[in-house]
Amino acid sequence: MDVKVKKIRGTRDILPEEASLWSEVEGKIREVCRVYGFGEIRVPTFEETSLFIKTTGETTDIVEKQMYTFEDKGGRSLTLKPEGTPSVVRAYLENALFQRGKKTKLFYIERMFRQERPQKGRYREFTQFGVELIGSKSPLSDAEIISLAFTLFEKIGVKDITLRINSIGCFRCRGPFRDALKEYLKSKLPELCPDCKRRFERNPLRVLDCKEDKEKLKDAPRSTDYLCDNCKKHWKRLISVLEKLKIPFLVDHMLVRGLDYYTGPVFEFVSGKLGAQDAVGGGGRYDELIESMGGEPTPATGFAIGLDRLVMLVEKKKEERIPLWIVNIGEEAEEAGFLLMEKLRRMGVRVEMDLTGRSLKAQFREADKRNAKYVLVIGEDEIRKNKGKLKDMETGKEEEIELDEEKIKERVC
Ligand code: HAM
Repeated sequence: MDVKVKKIRGTRDILPEEASLWSEVEGKIREVCRVYGFGEIRVPTFEETSLFIKTTGETTDIVEKQMYTFEDKGGRSLTLKPEGTPSVVRAYLENALFQRGKKTKLFYIERMFRQERPQKGRYREFTQFGVELIGSKSPLSDAEIISLAFTLFEKIGVKDITLRINSIGCFRCRGPFRDALKEYLKSKLPELCPDCKRRFERNPLRVLDCKEDKEKLKDAPRSTDYLCDNCKKHWKRLISVLEKLKIPFLVDHMLVRGLDYYTGPVFEFVSGKLGAQDAVGGGGRYDELIESMGGEPTPATGFAIGLDRLVMLVEKKKEERIPLWIVNIGEEAEEAGFLLMEKLRRMGVRVEMDLTGRSLKAQFREADKRNAKYVLVIGEDEIRKNKGKLKDMETGKEEEIELDEEKIKERVC
């Protein structure tokens, strides 16, 4: 069929079978977050553009190339949020959540927008589940959110996730590391891809993140060798606690993450089952962001998981059987069946029937296709006797049953 208007490239329709999987995953997220003491926050879909420039970072791919930015009728520059952390931090400050206690633990399930080249697992509108733990500088807080993610993976039956982790250090240790890296990259520059040549000037750390040049840069300086005493202590303790928690991780010295606010540990949850877009989620510590947005110096850590990718890893369950299907013959029976169906539904019983006036055979075929456990046949005779024929679709056995919702519920559920 030639549909007149089609969906925007990079967006998608999530149809009922998949949407029910999404609801299940979202339910488990809420359950796990409750256990871990995270409260839900919902933030606006769009923000002032300057918020992302100041936080995500001017030289990041997101801000440079991917934002959906537009001017509204009042001439303001607005942006559909490409990630959740800036909005959550803004909301934390604007609503003075810091007054409610030393630690603030928030989670969100929100749509995000990035104008990237669409491919499997990469969309222009996608959903993130994120957590932000604000107010603690302890490495145990980083371990806490990583552990939360692994508890979730286990709850939804997603296996074989590897945690890749690195520490890029605070802004103090970043300087010497950046200098050493630039020195090293200078000799490699002619071999690097055009993007990396540009990054070398503006944001040399991002060169390490380039998939194309990864192999060539294996012997690059490692950020963990440039950590200040505080960052080194933090990093060592985090690693040791992750070991104790038996969380499988791999130290990846090339992991720097594409957002500017990180200080200290950064990490990604990676799956081998996703193809090129293998990062299910990512995050890290951002101890300077809140102060840079006008708040008191406040340490924080967080991550976001892409739900589009996570749901791809969840095994589809077989659809639950519909307990009852009502098959009707004639207009009078159709209405009687309909009224009975509504009574049963109000009692919480899943019931279906055909309301398109199809033949008995077609109705049975549909009930069979939809995997109904029982079929109740109602015709004129049955109405007169107030008794319908109930057929067990598995055994084929038939019995008479009074057309009474209580009795039917008891029999089929
Ligand atoms: P991010 O690594 O940019 O981090 O995104 C996190 C996750 O969102 C990715 O690992 C991926 O699963 C998903 N994602 C990103 N872009 C797309 C896309 N175009 N299509 C589908 N899924 C996508 C952040 O956004 C940080 N705010 C995470 C964070 C929270 N750091 C600290 N707190």
